[in-house]
Amino acid sequence: MKKTEKKRQRRRQVAAAAAAEAEARRKERMVSRSQAKYELIQEVGRGSYGVVYEAVTRSTGARVAVKKIRCHSPENVELALREFWALSSIQSQHPNVIHLEECVLQRDGLAQRMSHGSSSSLYLELVETSLKGEIAFDPQCAYYLWFVMDFCDGGDMNAYLLSRKPSRRTNTSFMLQLGSALAFLHRNQIIHRDLKPDNILISQGRTATGSPEPTLKVADFGLSKVCSTSGLNSEEPASVNKCFLSTACGTDFYMAPEVWEGHYTAKADIFALGIIIWAMVERITFVDVETQKELLGSYVQQGGEIVPLGEALLENPKMELLIPARKKSMNANMKQLIREMLSANPQERPDAFELELRLVRIACRELDWDT
Ligand SMILES: Nc1ncnc2c1ncn2[C@@H]1O[C@H](COP(=O)(O)OP(=O)(O)O)[C@@H](O)[C@H]1O
Ligand SMILES: [Mg+2]
Repeated sequence: MKKTEKKRQRRRQVAAAAAAEAEARRKERMVSRSQAKYELIQEVGRGSYGVVYEAVTRSTGARVAVKKIRCHSPENVELALREFWALSSIQSQHPNVIHLEECVLQRDGLAQRMSHGSSSSLYLELVETSLKGEIAFDPQCAYYLWFVMDFCDGGDMNAYLLSRKPSRRTNTSFMLQLGSALAFLHRNQIIHRDLKPDNILISQGRTATGSPEPTLKVADFGLSKVCSTSGLNSEEPASVNKCFLSTACGTDFYMAPEVWEGHYTAKADIFALGIIIWAMVERITFVDVETQKELLGSYVQQGGEIVPLGEALLENPKMELLIPARKKSMNANMKQLIREMLSANPQERPDAFELELRLVRIACRELDWDT
């Protein structure tokens, strides 16, 4: 080899080594930047798909929750992307819906902020995995999605309510907050599909006079669906109540009859909320067989067994529900509203916007009653 050719080859080797070193330093900086940004304090929840930590944002000292989902199966990836798409599609914040501060995608120590419609190859590999139903990346790579959200210090709605004496004031406030959250979500074309007290978290705050004032936050959007298609007529605003879905999903005690059949709309969320509100007002609970936890939820009793209401209504849509279960536990308007929310026919249920208004009216009457 000539001397000049040798020199050129050496220069190329030096340049390649410098580029590799720069890339390694860039990766190191990205990892340490994201790790340094949040300090994980303790584990606060563990679901079937991920772990949730209480954490602190180092720069501000603000408490946050970090939900870390390992993307090692198509199911986990789909769940994580659903949560990301729903929470990142919300343009404005709502006090009763969990707020996503950022979502970070981490692979083998390399971390990058996720953005909707990103063309990054990591993001596209996840989308491909979810669409194909099979892992579209090297299975040796460990992918994680970190969801950084508001931290809720009051536990979930089950734990909160069941550890306190029933209070009409709290029930009324919770009803209003839930009605407002659902109207907001449906206005933003989001169907939650897994509303249940476990997925409704509490932030404990205080009023100006110092009395406790819990704020509900609807969380866990892993099964949610963003319905972005408008009606056939482009002039017509997109209605979440006309978006038909077919994936039967949710948690059986809160599932509407049509969800069991696999043909439903956003009205399935109204049914789930009907189960929750009825159970909250009358303190109806059952024990979950798997976890042995006491949960708020209304059901029917058939031959000594408890059966989810939606399942029972699917078999017998004309079944009369015993609302209220106890005399004088609610007024006539509330009774009528819960009955409508739990109609076997989704068209007979109010939509989220009407529901919000009716809950406000009921709450105003309750306040008149109290004073
Ligand atoms: N923002 C949060 N603040 C405090 N705790 C949380 C937060 N998000 C989740 N958790 C805790 O972690 C649990 C599981 O979170 P969730 O989002 O429901 O995930 P999963 O899909 O595993 O059910 C919750 O029931 C709650 O106890
Ligand atoms: Mg959950």
